[in-house]
Amino acid sequence: MAVQNPGRRGFLKNGVTAALGVATLPLLSPTLGWAAPGTLEMEQEAAGKSAASSLVKLDFDRRIGEIDRNIYGSFIEELGRCIYGGVYDPGSPLSDSEGYREDVMRAIKGLRISVLRWPGGNFASGYNWKDGIGPKNKRPPRWDPAWQEVDSNQFGTDEFLRYCEKLQVQPYITVNMGTGTMQEAADWVEYCNGTENTYWANQRRKNGHLAPYKVKLWGLGNEVYGGWEIGQMDARNYSADALQYAKLMKWMDPTLRLVAVGDTSVNWDVRVLEQLTEIIDYISLHHYGGSLNTEKEMRDATYFHDQLRALEGVITAVMANRPPRKPIAIAADEWNIWFRSGAQPGNPHKLEEIYNLRDALWVASALNIFHRMCNSVRLACLAQLVNVLAPIMTNRTGLVLQTIYYPFLLYSNYAGNIALDALVRSDAFPGMPSTPYLDVSATTDDANRKLTLALVNRHPTADIPVNIEMEGFRPQATGTLFEVNGANLNVTNTFAEPHNVIAKRSTISGAARRFRHTCPAHSLQVLVLDQA
Ligand code: AHR
Repeated sequence: MAVQNPGRRGFLKNGVTAALGVATLPLLSPTLGWAAPGTLEMEQEAAGKSAASSLVKLDFDRRIGEIDRNIYGSFIEELGRCIYGGVYDPGSPLSDSEGYREDVMRAIKGLRISVLRWPGGNFASGYNWKDGIGPKNKRPPRWDPAWQEVDSNQFGTDEFLRYCEKLQVQPYITVNMGTGTMQEAADWVEYCNGTENTYWANQRRKNGHLAPYKVKLWGLGNEVYGGWEIGQMDARNYSADALQYAKLMKWMDPTLRLVAVGDTSVNWDVRVLEQLTEIIDYISLHHYGGSLNTEKEMRDATYFHDQLRALEGVITAVMANRPPRKPIAIAADEWNIWFRSGAQPGNPHKLEEIYNLRDALWVASALNIFHRMCNSVRLACLAQLVNVLAPIMTNRTGLVLQTIYYPFLLYSNYAGNIALDALVRSDAFPGMPSTPYLDVSATTDDANRKLTLALVNRHPTADIPVNIEMEGFRPQATGTLFEVNGANLNVTNTFAEPHNVIAKRSTISGAARRFRHTCPAHSLQVLVLDQA
């Protein structure tokens, strides 16, 4: 749940219209269709120019564990311009013969995402997947009560799974536990994965896909604990229902890996885990943060970390009283900054959040958390991917990569598969000892032949000199340095100025077992060093 998302808090307080109307949407420019909200983001940053030295100490024998590549997942929802006009735009000169925007696919491929979640989100709780298959001219348009807009049903299961094939990502489907039934969920599994001569498997064949899609990841509903969700339930009813859905879905295909809805409430999570532990593989946690103030935004990253650690503790507590079995992992299957944009009915530009450099540093901090918690966070989906809360923004003639695109790109492409237990000493934000200025994750590969060190200097004005020391690894003196930075924390990328914040690549020299390196103010740096 997005504790800091005023839209959803507003929903509970004020009802549907007020919630959908919450917005300080960026000004729309007639020529660009989208403009940066820089002037809206005024804040007084701390004026200091220097920070005390920090220390990063690495012992290559001190491994945390193996990073699951499924943490570099993302999410597309039938919402606003995410699918229609983003992912899928038949007739556009930028689209391929099947209607997928080719420029968008290229940008997504750059991110090397591992998993793609669909169809929602809140949308999932009212979605009848059977409306979205078969001949397109026979598919009924439907009103989507979750986001107050029409869903044409032109992008359905086959279009989604074809998209995953094109992108070479693993699909992750969330079933409808709002208006749906367990039979519909089981039929969906049969449609996707069925191998026998049965009705829904045959429908798939008739619709052009002879081989089963073999979709492994399935979500048992979405955020059903919330008043904004179609079919809100309490933990007791949810776990009872989810168990029946899960049983039937697994009886259609025992190889499924299931994600139960988790919350940030211990009571909810205990109940769900106690009931479902034998049948699920993951429990989810959603987090949206954000602030115009750097201290608050970075404090929010710590808060996200605390929520994940709390859920990890709940899993440990529940599992401790059970016979040994494969542990349940955390699926952080919606995470991002979201606090500016809303979803007014009639506005096609729903949830079009404009991200600045500060948000990019928050995203880097979140990815550092996933690395450090790699033993429990085994699946994560940046929410979302195109236009809606997205690193990639489109208009009719092209796209722009938002600031948050770049940290994701660097982590997904350059991190090693093993997380190291880095010792970090750094000053912290005033009055917030658990939120240091310098946030770090360190990764290597199986054979300790490479170090990828992600250093996020979250200080708004000061460079941070860092003493880096390592045991069990002697780096080559020269390596690669990537930096994501910009003129200030409020800077954004726009169609007019698309490259204000990018990942700049350079060479670092002078690396050694012990060396000193300076992290510029408000930057992410990723150092990639090979073993000498
Ligand atoms: O990502 C936007 C929305 O946030 C999703 O639909 C929902 O799951 C969450 O509340």
